[in-house]
Amino acid sequence: MPKKLKIAFYGVWPEMKDYVRSKMSGFSVAISNEKISETNVSTDADVLAVFVEIPVTKKIIEKNTHLKMIATMSTGFDHIDLAAAKANKIPVCNVPTYGENTVAEHAMALILGLTRKLFPSVKRVKEGLYDFHGLRGVDLKGKTLGVIGTGHIGAHLIKMASGFEMNIIAYDAFPNKDLEKKLGFKYTTLNKLLAQSDIISLHTPLLPATHHLINKENIKKIKKGAYLINTARGALIDPEALVWGLQSNQLAGAGLDVLEDENLIQNYEQIISCSNDECKIKTTLLNNIIIDHPNSIVTPHNAFNSAEAIQRILDVTIENIKSFAKGKVINDVTVSKK
Ligand code: NAI
Repeated sequence: MPKKLKIAFYGVWPEMKDYVRSKMSGFSVAISNEKISETNVSTDADVLAVFVEIPVTKKIIEKNTHLKMIATMSTGFDHIDLAAAKANKIPVCNVPTYGENTVAEHAMALILGLTRKLFPSVKRVKEGLYDFHGLRGVDLKGKTLGVIGTGHIGAHLIKMASGFEMNIIAYDAFPNKDLEKKLGFKYTTLNKLLAQSDIISLHTPLLPATHHLINKENIKKIKKGAYLINTARGALIDPEALVWGLQSNQLAGAGLDVLEDENLIQNYEQIISCSNDECKIKTTLLNNIIIDHPNSIVTPHNAFNSAEAIQRILDVTIENIKSFAKGKVINDVTVSKK
């Protein structure tokens, strides 16, 4: 291992640069706020540090023959070709717990935004009409919240929902019985959760097993008039199913911080210039229908974005890199924990 590791940061916003540099003395550091691509990627960096919206493809991994570690400044790691990293024995280190309250608070904001018709209410007043007619919402107290994925973020949302006096049920592929007892919710099957919940909130990682977890078949099993919240990953929901759910009023509303192939929204040049199998024209059209629907609230993958969370993200990423430099790999997601 070279004495002075070269670290290439991508997607780092200008206001963070000084902080990162101040913490990385002893390393050779290159900081860019650009997105990484196969043409601009540093080919002599020992470590690539990237934000979540930056895909690290097989080609990028293979092009950089010096690469020894990838640090992702996020919890999710589906933007990184994990198989290629594993094949090249490159650890991929994430930030496991920076935002359990941060993301759960955003999920709760989406829930309240929908159930209290916050956006049409604000819009109406801003347009000069001070009138509540047609803006009736629903209480959370006494309603059933179905949490899919009871890890860090899901568990935090459960705690908050208890404060609202909601009934809480949950589904997880790996139920945590101690947590169930401690927080006073009940695990159930996915189908029962869909049938019984007034509000469903998704908090699982995007894996082959969770891709289109909500799909054309099981969206029909959702209780008529329920709200669907997704702050995890867009591809957990089949967008075609979601459009059907909204247009048929099966869903009263959807609160989404993430969309499938969200990187293509408003990036139409990329869609036009891509080769056939990469083209996501249909998904992009469906996303626009979802965004424009009056019963949806869509935020631009912003749930992580609080001042406190960003500080924690940077600190854990820097710790991941420094620990790797000392020969101890921590938070490596290429090593299965379950
Ligand atoms: P976590 O790893 O603590 O919890 C995930 C839970 O999902 C675990 O309890 C796990 O057992 C469960 N799970 C795994 N596979 C499953 C399956 N097949 N079916 C059902 N449950 C399954 O993760 P955490 O910290 O709660 O984050 C959840 C997700 O939130 C992340 O993977 C990430 O994609 C997303 N996220 C989104 C952010 C945003 O800005 N919108 C920010 C941070 C995370």
